Amino acid sequence: MSLLPSGAYRPPADRWGTFTRLAARLPEGCVAVVDRTVARLHPALIPALKARAPRAIIQLVGGERAKSLASLEKVLANGVNLPRSGTLVAVGGGTVGDVATVAAHLLKRGVRLVQVPTTLLAAVDSSLGGKGAVDLTVRGRVVKNPAGVFHYAEEGWLCQDLFATLSPQQIREGSIEAWKMVATLDAGLFKRYVRAPPTMEKLVRDARRLKESVCARDPYELTGLRRVLNFGHTFGHVLESLSSFQLSHGDAVGLGMLMALDVGRHLGATPGLVAAEVEAALQQGPGVLDRAHAARLLRRASQRDVVALLNADKKAGARGELRMVLLTALGATDVRDVASATWRELWPAWTEGVRP
Ligand SMILES: NC(=O)c1ccc[n+]([C@@H]2O[C@H](COP(=O)([O-])OP(=O)(O)OC[C@H]3O[C@@H](n4cnc5c(N)ncnc54)[C@H](O)[C@@H]3O)[C@@H](O)[C@H]2O)c1
Ligand SMILES: [Zn+2]
Repeated sequence: MSLLPSGAYRPPADRWGTFTRLAARLPEGCVAVVDRTVARLHPALIPALKARAPRAIIQLVGGERAKSLASLEKVLANGVNLPRSGTLVAVGGGTVGDVATVAAHLLKRGVRLVQVPTTLLAAVDSSLGGKGAVDLTVRGRVVKNPAGVFHYAEEGWLCQDLFATLSPQQIREGSIEAWKMVATLDAGLFKRYVRAPPTMEKLVRDARRLKESVCARDPYELTGLRRVLNFGHTFGHVLESLSSFQLSHGDAVGLGMLMALDVGRHLGATPGLVAAEVEAALQQGPGVLDRAHAARLLRRASQRDVVALLNADKKAGARGELRMVLLTALGATDVRDVASATWRELWPAWTEGVRP
């Protein structure tokens, strides 16, 4: 038994296996939060949880709407009888994982959390690193993640049987975030990926190891070290917003990475050969969308709209300069303040859908 309070940083214990086999180890009397779609697609899941005499099984409809105060309250209400040494199990994608993380943090000032990511994005990204949050509606507008916590899971269960029902698009979204970590953090691994594409299991293991290595050095996001994980997110978030969230986060980040490579090349921070190699790898590996997708969205907007979105995202400084993660070599990044004139020069090519 650890002397650290539940939710404090500790290296995560990853367990691989089928859900049924891993669930057999659950302590009795846990509370489980389960994505309803996952429960429907995997009929053995709920019986495996029920066999452990849980206090409650709460099913949430996965998707951004699950990250509401209403679902948080539902989880908390079902968890009031959980002792401080009790366990909350989150089975779902990033949305169910995020709301369950907040609930685990609040219940009895912190109970044990087991994350069972069921999307690839959750497996490689959101179920690691301790962050959880819910969205708020402020003056009629949904604001993403303003109410959040750090609460580290004690275990991550990687159940490949649950990934079998993911669509090619869901796999692409998660793969893009995983390739992001490899391109920015591990040059040798990146080269190996280009030579031979990894299996899904290897992709998940590698991405989790890389994200964990970053989080271990900055578990509560105090030093700025975790910023490397934002590669591709500056313009990725702009594209997500311009599409009214029709473009998925992973696909937006993929295109955002191409734009970050353009910015880096334009400033002389990213060598041309590196940018070309990473762009080709993102096309052949996870399958980043064509630049035409970004162009169609950017053509809908003015540069002023983009500035407003960058400001809302707190990515722009007082003079409109952007704090961006740029790739300086394979596996290496630098955070630079980028003047708005820089991306404005790239705008014509971006809106035509060609590489500047
Ligand atoms: N906490 C963090 O550090 C962090 C990091 C990145 C993203 N996030 C958050 O994660 C969320 C996105 O995560 P997501 O992409 O997993 O979204 P999600 O939870 O909405 O899942 C996407 C869809 O996939 C379905 N689904 C889940 N597992 C499935 C399976 N095995 N088979 C078939 N369908 C399945 C869900 O029902 C949902 O409709 C966002 O809210 C984002 O803010 C958090
Ligand atoms: Zn992301």
